[in-house]
Amino acid sequence: MKYASLVGHTPEQSPSSSSFRGRIVAVANQKGGVGKTTTAINVATSLALDGHSVLLVDVDPQANLTSGVGMKGQRAHGGTAYEALMNENADPASFVLPTRVEHLSLIPADRNLTGAEIEMVPLLARERCLQRVLEPLRARFEFIFIDCPPSLGLLTLNALVAADAVLIPLHCEYFALEGLADLVGTLRRVRGALNPALDIEGVLLTMYDDRTNLGQLVARDVRDFFKDKVFNTIIPRNVRLGEAPSHGTPGVLYDTKSRGAAAYIALAKEMISRHAQRAA
Ligand SMILES: Nc1ncnc2c1ncn2[C@@H]1O[C@H](COP(=O)(O)OP(=O)(O)OP(=O)(O)O)[C@@H](O)[C@H]1O
Ligand SMILES: [Mg+2]
Repeated sequence: MKYASLVGHTPEQSPSSSSFRGRIVAVANQKGGVGKTTTAINVATSLALDGHSVLLVDVDPQANLTSGVGMKGQRAHGGTAYEALMNENADPASFVLPTRVEHLSLIPADRNLTGAEIEMVPLLARERCLQRVLEPLRARFEFIFIDCPPSLGLLTLNALVAADAVLIPLHCEYFALEGLADLVGTLRRVRGALNPALDIEGVLLTMYDDRTNLGQLVARDVRDFFKDKVFNTIIPRNVRLGEAPSHGTPGVLYDTKSRGAAAYIALAKEMISRHAQRAA
């Protein structure tokens, strides 16, 4: 499977230089089923197909990200995200698996991760377990995407502490903005106490149905609230994106010509150009 380059690679930013620090993005929203996992998989795959080195990190005990890239039940030689979080002395590289997509790697999860939420509680620096794992991996990957569970518990907190920025998918439906105050409050607390530099990568409108007025109204409200933090790219509701996980294939590869695939490729492109603007 070959895609033309999205915007072209910038070799001076490649992980081959010793001071390289990849960008860590947490995909988070405590609301369930808003497209977090679909977004993490498809934006990461689009970037990898464009030649960027990308790591996906599954910190959701549902492990939908792991099965969505066709790797359900797989463990790296160090184990899964559970062992990575709990074993302070393990080598972070020992949890990274290659996927079937060139340039795309994965730290997989399984059900054991449910226990981590409780077992991390008594640990010293329990909010920094994931940061400890990912920090050394920044030198190897241009982008690291963390797929969070639908809660604001310790696993999501670890992701927000480890990340440079949070990408917030919002389902275009009536209650889209409900509960966002909790997320925004959590981001404020994380910035205040644990990760002052945490940025908003962008707010992403997902499952948009342009046949309904509701979708348009929600999109307008979200733009009023988050202003230019909202990505220009909108992800449409698309059957092919919904089917792809049951085939263990990222949507952008499952049906490359679908509207859903095109939207995620456009999102990856928008992210890259925003980064270029920020760097300039
Ligand atoms: N744009 C879309 N069009 C159609 N179906 C979609 C789209 N995005 C996601 N889906 C489907 O909607 C469901 C929820 O998506 P997804 O798993 O990405 O959400 P999530 O926020 O990660 O959920 P959870 O909170 O349970 O982790 C999945 O079955 C997925 O395949
Ligand atoms: Mg999910």
